[in-house]
Amino acid sequence: MENTDNTLPIAIAHLSKSFGGRKVLDGIDLTIPRGQTLSLLGRSGTGKSVLLRLLIGLDKPDSGSIRIDGEEITSLGMDRLNRIRQKLGFLFQQAALYDSLTLGENVEFPLKRQTTLSPAERTEKVRALLASVGLERDVDKLPSEISGGMKKRAGLARALALDPAIVFFDEPTAGLDPITAAEIGQLITDLSKQRGMTSVVATHDMHSVRCFSDRAVLLDKGRVLIDGSFDDLKNSSDPFVSEFLTAAV
Ligand SMILES: Nc1ncnc2c1ncn2[C@@H]1O[C@H](COP(=O)(O)OP(=O)(O)OP(=O)(O)O)[C@@H](O)[C@H]1O
Ligand SMILES: [Mg+2]
Repeated sequence: MENTDNTLPIAIAHLSKSFGGRKVLDGIDLTIPRGQTLSLLGRSGTGKSVLLRLLIGLDKPDSGSIRIDGEEITSLGMDRLNRIRQKLGFLFQQAALYDSLTLGENVEFPLKRQTTLSPAERTEKVRALLASVGLERDVDKLPSEISGGMKKRAGLARALALDPAIVFFDEPTAGLDPITAAEIGQLITDLSKQRGMTSVVATHDMHSVRCFSDRAVLLDKGRVLIDGSFDDLKNSSDPFVSEFLTAAV
């Protein structure tokens, strides 16, 4: 389906990806409307991170289609891909901060590279971003000086620095205490609602799924096993879905 109406920022069709002869993704079909917060669920090793990497163009699928704002990204060259990436934010599973830069410098990095903000404007934006994830007092710390949860939050601030329309989060709340995890979940939801930000969140955190996402997709054996609200998953009669939810909550 041609998608240029801008209300369907992500359209994935028949997407497949193998590693060493093993099919990790085996024909994923998924469309995600603007402003939706979608949780991507599945057992460890089912391909959630692989799917997110394909969505941001860090890897190429073996077959299938990914359209971002109507543009097919699987066949794009580096220049066009980089232009599309400016609309995207990405929080890696390991926060992937630059070790030699302070938290402030980490968050400022995309602003320096991609915007024409003055140093004073950048400083203010960095302050606001770090404050939004509760790190306003840690601007001068190095990643080695902070906890794993704080790294995750700093990575989140950096992912949001360019006000992306679409953000991919890989385990944004893993390793966080329950209160911080709930705050991060709430922050993602608030941004989605305020700015129409579209979010895809790979997670094992069922509390976040229940409280903060509009929709949940459970991957199994390379496919979408179930796609619906948290209640749809809860009420599913599929034995694997029940087992997954029972084990998780
Ligand atoms: N670059 C790669 N080369 C070879 N195999 C890979 C590569 N990336 C991922 N895989 C394999 O693909 C499968 C899916 O990995 P992926 O990291 O997407 O799992 P996941 O669903 O994100 O798991 P988790 O919940 O533990 O984060 C795994 O078997 C993994 O070993
Ligand atoms: Mg993963």
